[in-house]
Amino acid sequence: MTYSRIAGTGAYLPEKVVANKDLEKSMETSDEWIRERTGICRRHIAADGETCSDMALAAARQAMEMAEIEATAIDLIIVGTVTPDKLFPSTACIIQRRLGIHGCPAFDIQAACSGFVYALDVANRQIQTGAATTALVIGSEVLSRITDWEDRGTAVLFGDGAGAVILQASDEQGIISTHIHSDGQYEDLLHVPQGFGTSSDGLRTEGAFIQMDGNAVFRRAVATLGSIARETLAGNGIDKHDIDWLIPHQANLRIISAAAKKLDLSMDHVVVTVDEHANTSSASIPLALNTAVRDGRIQRGQLLLFEAFGAGFTWGSALIRF
Ligand code: UT7
Repeated sequence: MTYSRIAGTGAYLPEKVVANKDLEKSMETSDEWIRERTGICRRHIAADGETCSDMALAAARQAMEMAEIEATAIDLIIVGTVTPDKLFPSTACIIQRRLGIHGCPAFDIQAACSGFVYALDVANRQIQTGAATTALVIGSEVLSRITDWEDRGTAVLFGDGAGAVILQASDEQGIISTHIHSDGQYEDLLHVPQGFGTSSDGLRTEGAFIQMDGNAVFRRAVATLGSIARETLAGNGIDKHDIDWLIPHQANLRIISAAAKKLDLSMDHVVVTVDEHANTSSASIPLALNTAVRDGRIQRGQLLLFEAFGAGFTWGSALIRF
């Protein structure tokens, strides 16, 4: 059987850091409130002119270096993003051009905060069927550009960044299973309402900001992350105590803690980076993964569980032998 193995990880966070204290100056909020309710301490914000593909490329190059591959080895590129450089072509095609490679399929996946897990699901299936051998899978977001900086209910929650993995075909166990789901009935609880709409005016970008019913999203996220974990473990006949590392979507520390509790996992076995970069949507899982791989917590042979939840709603998981 052919598996997809994570051969390399990479990440990028913009240089500019905005701490909670900095936000106190521009809106009615406090460092204490943000830390207590979300676990977030700071977020990184892309510089003027810095794009989704700039960040994605930096993360990709790190992952390629760890995997010890040249760009010419890549035969599939998938980018999870809701903040592409352009409406089209895809950010994946822009990455392909910037890597100087030609011909392999390259496309974006828009599944909001579940974008990376969705991309991993598709890349894994491409590798399993023999359609690809070396996939570059990226999550990259410049959420600061769709954040309403006057809305304290959302502005404190989001940040910019990118994470990437190189997946390689292997006889050794790697991705054991992926699981993805959506339920469009929750569209209005978390969305950026602007788009092409129904008029002939073309794309309306003014006011194109994230709107969220935070509390409703919170409750649904906790319940859904519990059910996706059960589905993933049961589908593989694996006991929750066998998991070495939970790498959840980094939106809110309270959601992450609730997910860990459902798995009976101590927080020592959960990778938490939300304090450092806030919610970076599709970039958050690969950012967290890269942190724990590079600081030596995650070791080869360990069992990892990725869990994602986002607008749509979309949700998904991946069980991986690293
Ligand atoms: O990536 C997936 C999508 N996103 C998420 O997973 C986020 C899910 N939701 C959340 O993380 C949480 O719901 C929030 C962090 C957004 C909010 O936490 P909460 O415990 O659900 O608080 P709340 O919305 O019920 O608001 C509590 C209070 C309100 O004041 P009143 O009505 O009780 O007087 C808010 O107006 O906190 C107030 N509040 C703030 N206060 C200080 C809301 N935002 C802020 C703020 N600073 N930034």
